[in-house]
Amino acid sequence: SEDEVVNITYIDRNGVKKPVKGKVGDNLMYLAHRYDIELEGACEASLACSTCHVYVHNNYFDKLQEPEEEEEDMLDMAVFLKENSRLGCQIILSKELEGLEVTLPQATRNFYVDGHVPQPH
Ligand code: FES
Repeated sequence: SEDEVVNITYIDRNGVKKPVKGKVGDNLMYLAHRYDIELEGACEASLACSTCHVYVHNNYFDKLQEPEEEEEDMLDMAVFLKENSRLGCQIILSKELEGLEVTLPQATRNFYVDGHVPQPH
């Protein structure tokens, strides 16, 4: 129904905004896949990779549930880590997240943008 719709905007690696309609309960990573957005998910949401890495817009970062320790560990291995980094497969849509914007990082461990060599940290 209408009130289950959650509008999400993905900002891709070229800075292009891609607005999509998700639903309460949707997984942010699988939602991206449904719309052909280039967010990977190499381990199928089992917290064994960091390829679903996204930056969460500041207005929404605090609305997310605290990351599990496993997520923190995986994020530590992500390239281009920032303070608002999260794993997309751990974000489940709720009404509170209406309007959420997430940005895809320049690269993930399995996906190197031409000319970018991720720095270890
Ligand atoms: Fe592997 Fe999210 S898909 S941690």
